[in-house]
Amino acid sequence: MSPTDFALLIVSAGSLWWFILQCRTMVRQHGRRQPPGPIGLPVIGHLHMLGKLPHRSLYKLSQKYGPIMSIRLGSVPTIIVSSPSAAELFLRTHDTVFASRPNAQAAEYLSYGSKGMAFSKYGSYWRSVRKFCTMELLSVAKIDSMARLRREELGLLVESLKVAARAGEVVDFSEKVARLIEDMTCRMLFGKSRDDRFDLSKIIHELAEIAGAFNVADYVPFLGAFDLQGLTRRSRVTAKAFDKILETIIDDHEEKARNDDTKLDRDFVDVMLALKNNPTSTHQQLAETIDRSITKAIILDMIFGAIDTSQTAIEWIMSELIRHPSVMKRLQEEINIIVNCEVVEESHLDKLEYLDMVVKEALRLHPVAPLLVPHESMEDIVIDGYYIEKNSRLIINNWGIGRDPGIWSENVEEFLPERFAGTDIDLRGESFQLIPFGSGRRGCPGMHLGLINIKLVVAQLVHSFDWELPFGISPDELNMDEAFGLSLPRAEHLLAIPKFRKS
Ligand code: HEM
Repeated sequence: MSPTDFALLIVSAGSLWWFILQCRTMVRQHGRRQPPGPIGLPVIGHLHMLGKLPHRSLYKLSQKYGPIMSIRLGSVPTIIVSSPSAAELFLRTHDTVFASRPNAQAAEYLSYGSKGMAFSKYGSYWRSVRKFCTMELLSVAKIDSMARLRREELGLLVESLKVAARAGEVVDFSEKVARLIEDMTCRMLFGKSRDDRFDLSKIIHELAEIAGAFNVADYVPFLGAFDLQGLTRRSRVTAKAFDKILETIIDDHEEKARNDDTKLDRDFVDVMLALKNNPTSTHQQLAETIDRSITKAIILDMIFGAIDTSQTAIEWIMSELIRHPSVMKRLQEEINIIVNCEVVEESHLDKLEYLDMVVKEALRLHPVAPLLVPHESMEDIVIDGYYIEKNSRLIINNWGIGRDPGIWSENVEEFLPERFAGTDIDLRGESFQLIPFGSGRRGCPGMHLGLINIKLVVAQLVHSFDWELPFGISPDELNMDEAFGLSLPRAEHLLAIPKFRKS
């Protein structure tokens, strides 16, 4: 068969597939009102409209079609939600219907067939994994009990920055924070700091990019085999590299367990490995099913959840503080008064009200997960008069919600922490104006840890140092471009010069 014949065959098969889908959809939806949305193309639907920064493209479309908009990504009916009240309808009022996750090629490769928590379907398996991670790692008590290790790692960073400050060096702030969070996470999960045998931050960035991409294979399955975006190849390479890292971590822990029967100082991986041999465990359901690939998928979720998110948030907060010297100054003054010594302790954080406003405002403008993680509906439902069919994908435009002009009034694009003064807007999933951690059943289980990481690191680094931009760049010239993925990092690393401040 010639290449032209082959191409014609593919196009004809695609068109036939699309035509059958359209007929099926029309029969199902006959007489039922759909949320408004733009007209799509045959086969690909609206995939071509997403662009390089989908959160921005979808935000623009929603300004025309409204806060509950329907589009079609290939064959997948998709609802885009872009206002707080609409988000509340989906994530609170009808949370049970939308608490599942869609199938995704990236999760198949990178999460051992969606065996972790973040990408698994709603149901008893997901519940058992979530309960295990919450009780054994992410509960307030567990996280607070690990304050010492966070303080130690942060102390090491401060010392290295003092050396850079004395030498007047430019530091790669993004890189430094990435390493810090990696160290803190490794100690928490594996009982020791970052391992020189592998580079977790780098592989996590790749994973976030792949997992966040709108992969044509997920939406137009017959095109999957062609790997038009190169995502299948990248997923395979990353999955293999990550698997090697996870195998090393588990091997090390098994070796340790063989040589040490004191059972003291057990870290998260030790607890997980012990689960299999412990039938009376509180986590009986998981204990019965857990195997090596489930163990790896869960560790991967924890590494990914902890590292990429906190470091991205800290980078944006610091960028905004450097761009707004008066906000930086006010924050330093608050910390001086409350902390009143060199080291910021976690017990100080709740008293730092202005820091809280700074964090909220930065997460409003730069939500770490701009489109949350996609949800999927588990049954047909009518919401706000619109019919939404089972297995629809739900995308919450977190980035757009932070810019809803009806909520944030004027200066929507401006970094203005004071806008939170005297309001009761919270960021823990109760106030739908600001949901950086999502909300409802699938809301982030690592929120307590995430908030501590962010607040502690920012507070200490602005308390110990003033920060200047290098190469004569003025604050308002700092590049604030975004790079899209499951998370939304800065497109360029943040470079800055620390100047030591005596408290
Ligand atoms: C600044 C810090 C963080 C932010 C902004 C953040 C944000 C989010 C968001 C938006 C979601 C998706 C919610 C949804 O789909 O509705 C999520 C889910 C998740 N996060 Fe976080 N997160 C952070 C820190 C963490 C940490 C420290 C961990 C764990 C160590 C973690 C683990 C997870 C997991 C496992 C899920 C999936 C939950 C599920 O599907 O049931 N996150 N996070």
